[in-house]
Amino acid sequence: MNEINQLIKNNQEWAESIKADDPDYFNKLAERQTPQYLWIGCADSRVPANQIVGLLPGDIFVHRNVANLVVHTDFNCLSVLQYAVDVLKVKHVIVCGHYGCGGVEAALGDQRFGLIDNWLGHIKDLAYKHREELALLEGEKRSARMCELNVLEQAENVRRNSIVKDAFMRGQQLHIHSWIYSLRNGVIKDLAKI
Ligand code: CO
Repeated sequence: MNEINQLIKNNQEWAESIKADDPDYFNKLAERQTPQYLWIGCADSRVPANQIVGLLPGDIFVHRNVANLVVHTDFNCLSVLQYAVDVLKVKHVIVCGHYGCGGVEAALGDQRFGLIDNWLGHIKDLAYKHREELALLEGEKRSARMCELNVLEQAENVRRNSIVKDAFMRGQQLHIHSWIYSLRNGVIKDLAKI
């Protein structure tokens, strides 16, 4: 069996196993989604949102891009945020980065990768903003700190966003979280609690 067919087979087995536990599971989910959380994370294959926080389909609304950026003019991310906040009325927006993020590390270096260099320009701007702190660090420590600064900045971009500001003005219950995940031990750290 070729590799791609294996995925279809895996899916059939997965769907069967879920139905074995709860025959009505998919019928209930097909009716509507009522997630409490919006996840804004990195596209990195090692940081799958649902799995690392132990949530099932239907529990978390997910947006992922390279280096978990929230860019004020990115209509993709803004549309997800607007739908999540205004329509789904999620209670938590989680910006979750991860240590060893290739996007962040690429932005710290001078190597060219193509179109993505423009996307990573947002992190280069951020590295410039924090150049004094970063200049005191080297190697893995510098990369790790930049990954943290990036999460904090993107969570701030969520807070500064007009959709979120309007929600706060209306008195809607909404909490913004800045988390970072370790690829080495699978543990999430809340940067607001450090
Ligand atoms: Co990444």
